[in-house]
Amino acid sequence: MCSKGVDMKIALLQGGLGQEAEVSRNTGKAFEKALVALNYDYVVIEADDNLIPKLISEKPDCALIALHGKYAEDGTVQGICEYLKIPYTGSGLLASALAMDKLRTKEVLSFYDIPTPKFAVFRRGEDDLESFDCSIKAPCVVKPVREGSSVGISIVDEQKDFKAALELASRYDRHVLIEEKVSGPECTVSVVKDQAFTPIEIRPKQGFYDYKNKYTKGATNYLLPPELSDEKIRELKDLALKVFKILDLHHYARIDFMMHNGSPYFIEANTLPGCTETSLLPQAAAHDGVDFNQLIDGLIKNARLDYEGVV
Ligand SMILES: Nc1ncnc2c1ncn2[C@@H]1O[C@H](COP(=O)(O)OP(=O)(O)O)[C@@H](O)[C@H]1O
Ligand SMILES: [Mg+2]
Repeated sequence: MCSKGVDMKIALLQGGLGQEAEVSRNTGKAFEKALVALNYDYVVIEADDNLIPKLISEKPDCALIALHGKYAEDGTVQGICEYLKIPYTGSGLLASALAMDKLRTKEVLSFYDIPTPKFAVFRRGEDDLESFDCSIKAPCVVKPVREGSSVGISIVDEQKDFKAALELASRYDRHVLIEEKVSGPECTVSVVKDQAFTPIEIRPKQGFYDYKNKYTKGATNYLLPPELSDEKIRELKDLALKVFKILDLHHYARIDFMMHNGSPYFIEANTLPGCTETSLLPQAAAHDGVDFNQLIDGLIKNARLDYEGVV
């Protein structure tokens, strides 16, 4: 853990090499505002091709990761920090890589009987697009195994659109996840330390929660608290904490669920969730009494190396 307090030098990592670089800069801006308010010494580092030499020359005491998606949320940046012995915020290398991979996460969680929509996989280069006989038929959801912000995802309501959806998703990853479409509503649960905050119900005004509905102001209604019974809210929170533990996540995460026939089904875990002041995790935290600066201070104070404390 970072124990030097405000005297330490923080490297705020933003941008990145993936599809979510712009989204990441928004998180970065919000983090920077908090660092100023909290009186930390910091440097903003664009996580471009020169990230490693920049980290070596800056020698920060802690990396505050404001990145999302590929090369960031998937263990890559965590591996760099591990190698350079720079404690970093959020989950470790394996937990990040696992949670980024929607297919392997579902396989692991299924082992622990966590409900998740039925699924199949298409492997580019092994399975033939023309003859691929998928066990899951429309209505289904087709997604790249490792992406974020709904990039490359299609909801397929009619079988005739299945092939185009597979083609699109396989542009973003070698493996494509095909999931049974579940009815909703959609709920996301933010976890910080060992506390699950009140879930937020997500209701896009049109269609599903795609990139546009995620980042266009007013396109989606958010219900905090959700329109669910206290019992269902408790069930969602308990499930989120269980998933957090099974995946060995560290300090914070946002876990997405969809209700299906009245019960929560796991969709995915976000290990570096959007963190502007209006993003979902900070909103849920604020609702339950944790303000934004407190949240960022907590991230920094709990930054660590996976191999910390072992020989
Ligand atoms: N099995 C499913 N059934 C219905 N809708 C889904 C399903 N899986 C995903 N979705 C919709 O697609 C959105 C994005 O999917 P998700 O797996 O969370 O990917 P991302 O990592 O891009 O956020 C979800 O927020 C939800 O609206
Ligand atoms: Mg999601």
